[in-house]
Amino acid sequence: MVDPADIVLVNASEVLTLGGDSGAPGAGTPRSGPQLDELGVIHNGSLAIKDGCLVDIGPSKEVDKRYVTDALERIDVSGKVVMPGFVDPHTHAVFGGSRVEEFELRLKGKSYLDILKEGGGILDTVRATRRLSIEDLMSASEQHLDNMLLHGTTTVEVKSGYGLSLDEELKILEAIRRLDERHPLDIVPTFLGAHAVPEEFIGKHDGHAQYVEEVLAMLPVVKERGRARFCDVFCDEGAFSLEDSKKILGEAKSLGFDIKLHACEFKDLGGAFLAVKLGAVSVDHLDHVSKDGIKALAEGKVMGVLLPGVPFFLGQKNVVQAGRMVEMGLPIALGTDFNPGSCPTISMQMIISLACMEMGLTPAQAICAATINAAHALGLGWETGSLELGKRADVIVLDIPSYKHLPYQFGINHVDIVIKAGKIVVEDKRIVST
Ligand code: NIG
Ligand code: FE
Repeated sequence: MVDPADIVLVNASEVLTLGGDSGAPGAGTPRSGPQLDELGVIHNGSLAIKDGCLVDIGPSKEVDKRYVTDALERIDVSGKVVMPGFVDPHTHAVFGGSRVEEFELRLKGKSYLDILKEGGGILDTVRATRRLSIEDLMSASEQHLDNMLLHGTTTVEVKSGYGLSLDEELKILEAIRRLDERHPLDIVPTFLGAHAVPEEFIGKHDGHAQYVEEVLAMLPVVKERGRARFCDVFCDEGAFSLEDSKKILGEAKSLGFDIKLHACEFKDLGGAFLAVKLGAVSVDHLDHVSKDGIKALAEGKVMGVLLPGVPFFLGQKNVVQAGRMVEMGLPIALGTDFNPGSCPTISMQMIISLACMEMGLTPAQAICAATINAAHALGLGWETGSLELGKRADVIVLDIPSYKHLPYQFGINHVDIVIKAGKIVVEDKRIVST
């Protein structure tokens, strides 16, 4: 007998630990190559949680006898899978309005970049976001966060980038800060002032260059108010050049931001090499990255965050196969990129399915990329993303007999129970009010 735990989950058909025991690195470093296939599966397993942390994990016949007391919540999860909560390392979840009309335009053949060029796309969402008070913006976003939680995401990164002026960007970052305080999800904030050139600059002579200067001027203020861990730039055709990105991210780095980059979503401008030079934590999208770019990232140990929902939703063909990246030794993570224009899903389960079906990952690789490696893509590998003793208890229970069913039965929410930092926040597929 040991001290009673707060919660014990017993008799899971599989516990996916994603821990270091199987030879793969656990909390320490991101996984690459064959390590991505190691889920650390315990068949017929149990785990115990106390004071928000994982205190016991192992085969049921060993763990269960240590907790035979009534003083704890004992949940039988027979026939189900227990695993770490998903970490979504790339979203734009704070925005106003929707782009449902643009969706139909695209279905009729108009391209995403042409819509942006004509003042729609991201700029449409900027108008809708600027119109909202911070309270209304927060309630719109809170619904998305609730939905994420119901689908098993327990940590999420959220970018600004629909404000595009100092005040409006600060409004979004403040909304993110307050949402983090009042919502069970952990939210990691990123400043993305260089998401698009706002319309008030487009008509001006040299408007693009002037807006780059404007973003540079925003950086120290955003930093001083302490509202963003990362700085990101949309480095691509129709957005910001490699030169712009170098200027903004170089300055951000010297101010103490950690660096991320949207690159190669439409065209390879060389963002991968810039990311290596700057010691970025991740480069995200990479659908059209060159082989040399992948090699440079793998050698430079910069993570690739893949967002398979985007090429799927935008109907892009011939995107880079993630299986190739794994072969080349690149540590990869998966994210939704949740936003109203290029990927309106919040479901990491759907993203795992798409990564297998459209990008050539195995189910185990995709799960690894959506948990422990996604945590590393936010610099949080020590806190979350795996079920290891002493780590925060961010745990989900899925109503499937084996992890292999997760991508196979696609488009379904398999998550029954979500435990965030040791507290049950979703039960029977419903948010538990606290
Ligand atoms: O990651 N690429 C730039 N930003 C988002 C799309 C934002 C939008 O369309 O509203 C992305 O795909
Ligand atoms: Fe994005």
